[in-house]
Amino acid sequence: MFGHHIMLPTLSRATFCVLLFAGLFNNAVADTPANCTYEDIRGTWIFSIGSGNNDRTVNCSKSFTPVRQSKFQLTYPDVAVDEFGNQGFWTIIYNQGFEVVVAGRKYFAFSKYVGKTSYCHETMPGWSHDVLGRDWSCYSGKKLGEAIIKEQTPAQRDNSLRFSHRVNSNEMVEAINKIQNSWEATHYPQFDSFSEEDFINLAGGHSSGVHSRPKPAPLTEEHKAIMQSLPKDFDWRNVDGINYVSPVRNQGGCGSCYAFGSMGMAEARVRIQTNNTQTPVFSPQDIVECSEYSQGCAGGFPYLIGGKYAEDFGLVLEKCNPYTGKNGKCQTDPKCPRHYFTGYRYIGGYYGGCNEALMMQAIHQNGPIAINFEVYRDLVSYKSGVYHHNPSLTANVGFNPFEITNHVVVAVGWGTVKTTGQKYWIVKNSWGDGWGLDGYFWIERGNDECSFESLAAESFPILSTLS
Ligand SMILES: *[C@@H]1O[C@H](CO)[C@@H](O)[C@H](O)[C@H]1NC(C)=O
Ligand SMILES: *[C@@H]1O[C@H](CO)[C@@H](O)[C@H](O)[C@H]1NC(C)=O
Ligand SMILES: *[C@@H]1O[C@H](CO)[C@@H](O)[C@H](O)[C@H]1NC(C)=O
Repeated sequence: MFGHHIMLPTLSRATFCVLLFAGLFNNAVADTPANCTYEDIRGTWIFSIGSGNNDRTVNCSKSFTPVRQSKFQLTYPDVAVDEFGNQGFWTIIYNQGFEVVVAGRKYFAFSKYVGKTSYCHETMPGWSHDVLGRDWSCYSGKKLGEAIIKEQTPAQRDNSLRFSHRVNSNEMVEAINKIQNSWEATHYPQFDSFSEEDFINLAGGHSSGVHSRPKPAPLTEEHKAIMQSLPKDFDWRNVDGINYVSPVRNQGGCGSCYAFGSMGMAEARVRIQTNNTQTPVFSPQDIVECSEYSQGCAGGFPYLIGGKYAEDFGLVLEKCNPYTGKNGKCQTDPKCPRHYFTGYRYIGGYYGGCNEALMMQAIHQNGPIAINFEVYRDLVSYKSGVYHHNPSLTANVGFNPFEITNHVVVAVGWGTVKTTGQKYWIVKNSWGDGWGLDGYFWIERGNDECSFESLAAESFPILSTLS
């Protein structure tokens, strides 16, 4: 796990869900305004920790009185050491915050922001608990050294506005189909009612087009051997004729793709673990309304939801809080049993350690994985074939390359086009089953298309006796 050579993750933008197939987009889509890079976080931190012995209902948004301090050194690539020399692990979660696990305790907090200003040398109040989840306390962190203060750069919305009407237009569809034949585009009448403002909201007000995610970890000889040992084609919807993947859903007008992606991974993994004797459909609304590890319809991350939330709080079935796609007070039936997951991690062990081989291995051994990737809006028109974004669309139809959003989906397998040898991932989307290949799409595999191979997460179901 520590052996990979990785590119340092340098991150620049907040994450946004793509919202589709809803008539109105009132929600601007964004995660927290924090924008803190790996380099901002790496270093020595003092955590001021509140009194312990709470349970998971502890409210860390309230002010708390620190009763002790702990010092952590966070070093490359993912090694955390406390003041006693205990060695553990740390990872950033995109540009939003970081988690530290040392000496049997976990610490997670979002990076501090006030308005649109990030204070990357500090955290918001966060949650600390032992790895068994019994003893909770609040904490906040401060990094030694200079203050790291960043103003969010204003979004380049004017560009989006200028070209946004072309998304889903016949002109766009024709241009896509003319300049390449890897995938086929089609016009979806569902989008005809979209105003320019809808598309702006759809795009979430993201800012610079320069996306600097971590590159995938290089493929070592060991990774290549892993790939050699795996089948050329694999699909959890058809393993010796058996389907282990839950039905496609529709997130509607809420930036909840991260919840659907997390639930999609979790549902399939329960099916796999129980040989399809348990087929739960979990509640994304519980996440939207009740999770403090995400921002409701304004975004979130699979590491924190399919991972950390599912471990700390558990998931409930859809019927315990049916999907409305709206923010609101937590309405989950408190009597509903909770389904727990554990062992959550980024594929490759930490943010920046991911690559094609490790993703294939995780899918094959453990089940579908949740992917956070960059969506260009030509994906909206996807009908079939192996998707890749074609930069010459910019020249041909004025397609704005800056129109990138972040979206979360579930990779359920992979394949190879017989005639061309083109490799692809098989991906479950949450835009309803009337889109793409019955709700699925294929995307190019092996070259980090749309950063698909840089940010994948998984977690493991704890066998439940409750269903
Ligand atoms: C936590 O405390 C804050 C501040 O007092 C309050 O606004 C919030 O509703 C509380 N959250 C819960 C879940 O009780
Ligand atoms: C986030 O920070 C990076 C690097 O510090 C910067 O290049 C980028 O423009 C910032 N993004 C936003 C939305 O402010
Ligand atoms: C899994 O389920 C299938 C289909 O019901 C059955 O044929 C198979 O024997 C089961 N496998 C195990 C290990 O129980």
